[in-house]
Amino acid sequence: MNISATIKKAVLPAAGLGTRFLPATKASPKEMLPIVDKPLIQYAVEEAVKCGIEEFIIITGKHKRAIEDHFDNAYELEEKLKTSGKKKLLEEVNKLNKINFAYIRQRAALGLGHAILCAKPFVGDEPFVVILSDDLIEPSYNLLGEMIKVYYEKKSPIVALDEVPISDVQRYGIIDGILEGEVYKIKDLVEKPEPDKSPSNLAILGRYILTPDIFPALETQKPGAGGEIQLTDALSRMAKKKTIYGYPIKGKRFDAGDKLGYLKATVDFALSNSELSQKFKEYLINKVKALL
Ligand code: UTP
Repeated sequence: MNISATIKKAVLPAAGLGTRFLPATKASPKEMLPIVDKPLIQYAVEEAVKCGIEEFIIITGKHKRAIEDHFDNAYELEEKLKTSGKKKLLEEVNKLNKINFAYIRQRAALGLGHAILCAKPFVGDEPFVVILSDDLIEPSYNLLGEMIKVYYEKKSPIVALDEVPISDVQRYGIIDGILEGEVYKIKDLVEKPEPDKSPSNLAILGRYILTPDIFPALETQKPGAGGEIQLTDALSRMAKKKTIYGYPIKGKRFDAGDKLGYLKATVDFALSNSELSQKFKEYLINKVKALL
């Protein structure tokens, strides 16, 4: 296992059923939901590109086409933008044209762990990152870059952590760990614990740096919470044999896979959008005044 290799690959699972967003996710993946003018998965790709990631392995479900088309060249549209002199929009549309994308079909939504296992033939023998696009990180905060830096020091798997209210732990993988400097040394990980049995309120969020030995762990992983092959369970078995670290985030993240989190992200991103912020702020102020 080449744990010293440079991290160049990202796996982006996008094959979940997105039941919390039905009916919007009936014929289109949750990862294609837009925040202002960009789908969630594009924010994830741009975040990784900034950290030097060169290859993207996207795990798709039955809505494969929408994501593939989104990252493909759109010749007719590009021509139209060119002839109408819309240079800025053209740049925006072309921005990711040189990035390599591979698509793998997860034939049934058997869980996040299973989705990652589908990427095994493309990842090979190197460390890699996993990004869950519905965990949206404010673009000015380079969480992934910080995690990659820690990986090069520790050469061990790392999961990103966020503190959540204890009443919410049932929605997350939760860790039990000890803070050592700026990272947690993880003793155990539990998927969706009951609040009174939860080892902490430190939730695993959708940024991971994994080593290839996760694949044999996933291959032998039995279904867990919700009858799904859970990544948290495989990591929990791994943590008994080697050190896994937790990296507490220092910036803002939005749970955009949840309706309230999605709305909060939309408001924050719109307020920091130079074209929209002023008018949107005025609208919000008037709206709030009317509600008081
Ligand atoms: P979620 O736990 O958010 O599940 O998946 P979901 O199906 O997408 O959404 P809800 O809970 O039904 O509303 C976390 C991540 O794992 C991917 C999802 O696409 C999301 O990025 N995933 C989940 C898969 O790729 N395959 C699976 O079988 C399950």
